[in-house]
Amino acid sequence: MFRQVQSSSPSPSLPGAIGVFDSGYGGLTILREMHRRLPDIDFLYLGDNARAPYGTRSFDIVYDFTLQAVTKLFDMGCHLVILACNTASAKALRTIQQNDLPRIAPDKRVLGVIRPTVERVGELSRNGHVGVFATPGTIASESYDLEIAKLFPSFVTTGHGCPMWVPLVENGEADRPGADYFVRQEIDRLMARDPLIDTVILGCTHYPLLLPKIRQYMPGGVQIVEQGALVAESLADYLRRHPEIDCNVTRGGSIRYLTTESPSKFNPLASLFTGSPVDAERISL
Ligand code: DGL
Repeated sequence: MFRQVQSSSPSPSLPGAIGVFDSGYGGLTILREMHRRLPDIDFLYLGDNARAPYGTRSFDIVYDFTLQAVTKLFDMGCHLVILACNTASAKALRTIQQNDLPRIAPDKRVLGVIRPTVERVGELSRNGHVGVFATPGTIASESYDLEIAKLFPSFVTTGHGCPMWVPLVENGEADRPGADYFVRQEIDRLMARDPLIDTVILGCTHYPLLLPKIRQYMPGGVQIVEQGALVAESLADYLRRHPEIDCNVTRGGSIRYLTTESPSKFNPLASLFTGSPVDAERISL
């Protein structure tokens, strides 16, 4: 499904791939949908697997790590970087957009995944009771509560942190029997807090990997919102509305993978996510 290239790093002033950043494997669920929606675009994926998970780290550390990754992707020729990570979007996006970009790269852009997800929730929930599963860091930031309240003031949002879900995915345990316990436990806890919830956002890009188990234990009638397709549609719309960014994106339909971990550890699990062999390069941030 995914095609790879081993391209040399272009000069920052030349058009480049769209950068896609996540703490680890989760952003691959967003990349997959972006590649499906925009198959001619080149993407450069960076997973900071060596330092994942981010979800339990402090605001300052997530911000520092994310800025390092964005700077690296800019240095490698990207003009647009998608933070395909809710934790980074919640804790670092605003500061990078407002304080860092004007200083380090005024013509470049960084976008997150929370806003495009929230924009669609109004159409999805019938009764305005929305649950959000995310990392403890995203939940503590209250980013989803605030964004939903801004766009849909009458909605009731219940955020619930799932500290074990990312480690299960990062360690290749998502489809093993041990994951059932943790998935079921968090669903029960969320639904006990608001039994009227009719829509649950998977507000962490790792969570689609747990989808079969989430579907199994979620009460019938509750909609599960995955971000991938929503973010991909939002990116397509953004490129249509911003020709000055669109003209700086190269088109060859390639995907190149970078990881801060050993590729021999990254490649097998990443291949499961993408459905085709992955041959990542190791980089340091
Ligand atoms: N996949 C990321 C997210 O969407 C982060 C997971 C983590 O590193 O804890 O929040």
